[in-house]
Amino acid sequence: MSQVSFIILAVFFALLIKWLSRVLRRPDNFPPGPSVLSGSLAAIRGGPKALFKMATALGRAGHKVVGVVFGPQKIIFINDTDVAREALGRDEISGRLTEVFTVDGFSIGGNFGVIDSEGAVWRRNRRFILRNLRDLGFGKSGHEDVIQREANSLCETIKNGELRISKLFNIPIINILWQMVLSKRFEMNDTAIGEWIALLNEAVGRDVFIQNAAPRFAERFPVLTGLKGVMDNFKKFRDGFDKEISEHAENLGDSEEPSDLVDAFLIEAKRNPAEFGDRRQLNDCLLDLFAAGAETTATTLKWAVLFMALNPDIQRRCRDEVWNKMGKHVTLTPDDVKRDLPYCQATICEVQRHARVFPGSVPHRVMADCKIAGFDVTENTLVILNIDYLMMNACVGGFDPAIFEPRRFIDSKTGEFNELKDFLPFGIGKRACLGDTLARKTLSVFFTTLVQRFEFRRTAATVFDEEKVLFGLTRSYDDFSVDVVKLV
Ligand code: HEM
Repeated sequence: MSQVSFIILAVFFALLIKWLSRVLRRPDNFPPGPSVLSGSLAAIRGGPKALFKMATALGRAGHKVVGVVFGPQKIIFINDTDVAREALGRDEISGRLTEVFTVDGFSIGGNFGVIDSEGAVWRRNRRFILRNLRDLGFGKSGHEDVIQREANSLCETIKNGELRISKLFNIPIINILWQMVLSKRFEMNDTAIGEWIALLNEAVGRDVFIQNAAPRFAERFPVLTGLKGVMDNFKKFRDGFDKEISEHAENLGDSEEPSDLVDAFLIEAKRNPAEFGDRRQLNDCLLDLFAAGAETTATTLKWAVLFMALNPDIQRRCRDEVWNKMGKHVTLTPDDVKRDLPYCQATICEVQRHARVFPGSVPHRVMADCKIAGFDVTENTLVILNIDYLMMNACVGGFDPAIFEPRRFIDSKTGEFNELKDFLPFGIGKRACLGDTLARKTLSVFFTTLVQRFEFRRTAATVFDEEKVLFGLTRSYDDFSVDVVKLV
């Protein structure tokens, strides 16, 4: 080897070592966690599931916050409700990854919509959606009729015999949301919405962790990292929503009376084009509501049927409560459940606790250097609430957290429903779920209506295998069927 080659090689190795020691070093005063190498390898090999497992193991060992360094990306998991309440209530921990890709695979680069936007755009879109959905009946009793109607229509389609749940709940749940958002309703056998549901299930079932944690890498290798598939899927949604928005604009004309959220947005765009004129904002908001609202509630109901079939005594107790306190034929409201059906309410919470449909919050981007629980956190770190840990370890109520036991949500002295501090299925703080009221109402009406009218029995195909749980944007399980007996 010539002297020149030797010098080039030596400089190369020196630079490599310097780079590796910089990249592989955990920052000073960073929360405890795996070494950079093991954290990164776990993320590459096992994706988010592996990281949650690591964070949960450290949570069990008493760590309220856990730090993982994955290449250049720092991630903090919060394992404690008090720490979460304080940190996620702060503006500087309310950002999202808007830069290149998104946290849920639904928008591409840029500050759009509500789930993936941040700062002024996010605040504006979130407030607009909440205010207008409220005006259109969201969270009010007016909308409860819609929920009840959808629950009734669903029940009419359920027959005695084997039932494969799969996408049973998607259409009624979409209908509830879509009547407010787009004034649209679909029949159970509608093929057009069936295609959208398939797209949605594919999108939320995708593991988008690598694309988000290493967006530039994903951009450079779109096929290898799966980014291309996500983008193709996303484009179909965007084209579909563009068509809906154009039709609405045409029908609305000069009217100032919105009949749904899209109308309200279009009217506001005329009044305030600087802030609402960009249709991509509306398109992304629709996508976000569809993605966040349709799949989560439907998946929770799917878990509810599985848990009822696996726990016949609990199912019977729910049914007895409904029959004894409300009757066999009455149409149930969310207020009935809150006021008179504490065991059913507790069972719905227990379903949500075990299902952990959102095992973690959507990652929050830190927008300015700050501290969390005394640790130093730099800008662009991602902060994730470890809902999986809180629900399955901290959320106890006097019972073994691993077992399915609704009584943990019941006050043993009064028999009343008792919410537990660590029960956070909708997240906490500034970016907590925008649709929690609607979701709670929908779950209570659908669940109680189902146990009132049907018995779900376990068969050889009613199996639960943790290994087959899908861990994409949501935690879902598809691999089961139950035997149904119509009671009423
Ligand atoms: C059982 C059903 C549901 C569960 C478990 C759930 C859970 C969550 C969670 C954990 C978050 C993330 C919070 C964070 O990032 O800190 C979230 C965000 C969100 N959810 Fe839900 N959700 C449900 C239903 C809904 C419904 C029905 C809607 C629509 C009406 C909705 C709309 C949203 C939106 C727009 C966000 C983003 C909020 C933001 O970034 O400011 N969700 N949800």
